[in-house]
Amino acid sequence: MKYIMYLLSFIFLLMACSKAPQEQAVEKIDSTYLSQGNKIVKISFETISGELQKALANGSIESALRYCNVNAYPITDSLATSFQVSIKRLSDKNRNLRNKTDKMGDFMMKGFGIDLSEGNDLSPKLVLKDDSVIFYKPIITQALCLNCHGVPGKDITFSNDSLIQALYPRDKAVGYQVNQLRGLWRIGFKKI
Ligand code: HEC
Repeated sequence: MKYIMYLLSFIFLLMACSKAPQEQAVEKIDSTYLSQGNKIVKISFETISGELQKALANGSIESALRYCNVNAYPITDSLATSFQVSIKRLSDKNRNLRNKTDKMGDFMMKGFGIDLSEGNDLSPKLVLKDDSVIFYKPIITQALCLNCHGVPGKDITFSNDSLIQALYPRDKAVGYQVNQLRGLWRIGFKKI
């Protein structure tokens, strides 16, 4: 009996040893993508919201709206080129038609939505797709956002609401309150 126990623990030890380096390697790759993804999202968010704050300080919500309409894509596209990744902001209730979630995006929105409502951790998720690693991070509303994504007539003035509808006739991105899931950052890496 004792002998069998020794043998078993030896086998377990062997199994543990043979698995550990592989698992460690995967964990290391994951944490590299996660920290890179977080870094790119932080810089993208700071760039967009910095520009937004500037437009607000120099003018009004209206000028900031026009600014976003023209510059949101050029800003994320130029950051994407410099980091050699793809950068997207997606939503199930999208303003720009190009930002509509796909099937995987809808799945992620659902998951993050449940996590938010249950008060769980909202840490980003990685998904493998063909030869890419996709990083998803939730985007949560703050008070500033409601000027353009809140309730029309309450948070959004009548004239800004008309401008939004003129720029985006199929806009769905209104009616939000603070601390709600507005959308997702989606960063696509080529697998290393
Ligand atoms: C001055 C108005 C304004 C403010 C303030 C604003 N947004 Fe937006 N938002 C826009 C416009 C305009 C677009 C569409 C940009 C485009 O055409 O790509 C947009 C698009 C988005 C998108 C991409 C998905 C979609 O619906 O097309 C997300 C996500 C988003 N905003 C989140 C936020 C968050 C979070 C805040 C607050 C931190 C915020 N916005 C504040 C005007 C605004």
